[in-house]
Amino acid sequence: MKIRRPAASILTLILINFHLTSGTRYRIPTVSPLLEGFQSDSDPSSCCIPAIFSFGSSVADTGTNLLLAVDLLASRYPYGVTFPGYASGRWSNGRLLIDFWAELLGLPYVDPFVNSGSSSFRQGANFASAGSTATDRYASFAPSSFSLSLQLHQFSKFKSQTVATHSEQEAVSGDQKIKDCGSKLVPTTLFQKALYIIAAGGNDVHHLTDQDMTIEEKKTVIPEISAAIMQTVEALHEEGARTILVEDVYPLGCLPASIFDVGGVVDSDGCVESVNELIRSHNSILRKELAAFAQKHSTDLSIALVDTYSIRHGLMTNPAKHGFKYGMAACCGIYGMPLRYKSDELCTQSQRTQLCMDPSEYVVWEGIHYTEAANNATMKAILSGVHFYPEFSLSCFRSCSSQSAVLAK
Ligand SMILES: *[C@@H]1O[C@H](CO)[C@@H](O)[C@H](O)[C@H]1NC(C)=O
Repeated sequence: MKIRRPAASILTLILINFHLTSGTRYRIPTVSPLLEGFQSDSDPSSCCIPAIFSFGSSVADTGTNLLLAVDLLASRYPYGVTFPGYASGRWSNGRLLIDFWAELLGLPYVDPFVNSGSSSFRQGANFASAGSTATDRYASFAPSSFSLSLQLHQFSKFKSQTVATHSEQEAVSGDQKIKDCGSKLVPTTLFQKALYIIAAGGNDVHHLTDQDMTIEEKKTVIPEISAAIMQTVEALHEEGARTILVEDVYPLGCLPASIFDVGGVVDSDGCVESVNELIRSHNSILRKELAAFAQKHSTDLSIALVDTYSIRHGLMTNPAKHGFKYGMAACCGIYGMPLRYKSDELCTQSQRTQLCMDPSEYVVWEGIHYTEAANNATMKAILSGVHFYPEFSLSCFRSCSSQSAVLAK
C-alpha cells in the first residue's frame, strides 16, 4: 500500500482537530431529561408529523460533534455566521437541509441527541455525527464520530427506554387520567408518526476514492454502502417508523476537495469523473433497493430516496440559472487560490482564510459542504416533488407547516 500524503480530504476536513477530551465519556442519556422542558400547551401529536429523527454525517450534524469535541473547524467563526449567528457545529455558514425540513414541518430545529441536558426530544432528535460512515468498513477512519450503526443503536435505546418508562408509569398510577394529563414523557405514538431522515454514505464513498485500488475494484465495494443504509432502513421500519426519507450522496466530484485532493480526469463541467461515477453507482443501487423495499412494505410504509445529486449538480455546474454567482468556488477560503481552496488551509484552519463578501452568492461553503443559500435552493427543488424515488407525497408535510403557521398567529 502506498502511503498517501495527508491530503485534506473530506475525512480530514471533518476530523481535523477533532478529539474527544480525555475526560469526556459519551453516555446514552437516561430517561430523566425527557421529563424536563415539556409544555403541555404544545401537544406535538396534534400535527400529522410531530417529530423528526435524523441520522447521518456532517451534512445533517446540527451540533452532535460540537458537544463532544473540544476543537473542530466548524466550532469557529465564520461557521454559523448567517445562522444561528455563532458556530453551532453545523458545517456551513447557516442552515442545513435538515433545518429546512424542520422549518417545512413547523417544527423546532432538530436537537442533537447528545444534548440531553436541555432537550426533551418531544419533537425528535438528531443522531447525525460529522465524519460518520454508513459502513463499518471505514468507521475506524472517523473514530470520534458515531457511525450509522451506532446512531441506530442510540435511537433504539432511547425508544426502548421511553417505552419502558411509560409502562412503569402506567403500572404505578394505574389510572388512565393521571397518565394522560401527567405524563411529560415523549409519547410512544411519536415514533410511528415521526419523519425519519437518513443522509449518509458520502464519507464512505470518499474513503473509497482514497484507496489504492482500480475503479473496478472500488465498484465492487460500493454495494456495501447501500447495504448498510438499507439495514438502517429495515431496522427503523421494524422499530415502527412509517415515514422515511433517504438522501442520496451529492456529487463530491464537483467539489474543490475532490478536484484538488483526489484529481484525475475531469468532465466538461470540471468535475472529477471517477468520483462522481462511484457516487452515481452507489445512488442507483440505493434507489433500486429502496424501491424494492417500498413495494414490499407499501401497506405500512411511505419511503423514498431524495435525489439530491442532480439538484446539487445543477447548482454547482449551472449556478446562474439558480441565482448564484459562483458554483464551485468556496465562500470561505483563500483569495487568490483556484476556487479559493487549499488543502491544508481550510476555512478556519489558517489565518489566511476569509469569509466571502456575500455567502448567498455561493453554492459551496468551504470546499466540501454547501452554503445555507444552496441548502435552501436544494430544499426548494425537493419541494417541486420530482426528485423522489419512488414517488412520495408531501401533502402531509404541507398541512403540518400550514397548521403550525396558523397556530403561530
Ligand atoms: C429560502 O428561499 C426562499 C425563496 O425560495 C426565501 O423566501 C427564504 O427566505 C429563504 N430562507 C432562508 C433562510 O434563506
